[in-house]
Amino acid sequence: MKLFIDTANTKLIKELSELNIIDGVTTNPSLMAKEGIKDEACDDHYVRICNLLNGPVSAEVIATDFAGMLKEALVLAKLHENIVVKIPMTKSGIQTIHKLSTKGIQTNCTLVFSSAQALLAAKAGATYVSPFIGRLEDINEDGLGLIKSIRTIFDNYGFKTQILAASIRTPNHLIKCAELGADVVTAPYSIINELFNHSLTTKGLEQFLADHAALNG
Ligand code: G3P
Repeated sequence: MKLFIDTANTKLIKELSELNIIDGVTTNPSLMAKEGIKDEACDDHYVRICNLLNGPVSAEVIATDFAGMLKEALVLAKLHENIVVKIPMTKSGIQTIHKLSTKGIQTNCTLVFSSAQALLAAKAGATYVSPFIGRLEDINEDGLGLIKSIRTIFDNYGFKTQILAASIRTPNHLIKCAELGADVVTAPYSIINELFNHSLTTKGLEQFLADHAALNG
């Protein structure tokens, strides 16, 4: 399973990418805003991110109509070979994804909350489809069940679209997605950081070092 980091913060991307555990990056307009990146600085920021690791970097369009999304997507795709254009799940979005797929441009269909939406994205030729687990759970729906359902549908028909599980709120979300066969999980830095820890690892290491010190001083 590939692991992406869900952030536009270059310091955090650099830190984890230097550990060689990160395969790519996802951003969205909210994450760009969190870093204070205004429109005129977005393109340079995406290139900065692309230069931090060798893997796909999702950059989202702002327009919502077909012509506008296509125009933005073509500019984004030219920024760097690793750019994946993130397009929202709407009728115009699906139209844009299809057009981009005929041009060989990689896409990530975002804001996916149902298997039906994922099926449409796959039919349009999306490279990735992003089901949002946490936001479904926020409304008491089954986010992990959605991953399972999409996996079954894609496998039934041999769709090549990769399932990119998003809106990850806990380490358990990430591990369950791995069990369910998500191709990629994108998670915030804080969640990836938690994956390193186990209380028994901390306790065990303290004991090893104490025993070693007791003998060696
Ligand atoms: O990048 C999209 C997704 O991961 C957003 O997560 O926590 O804002 O629902 P969240």
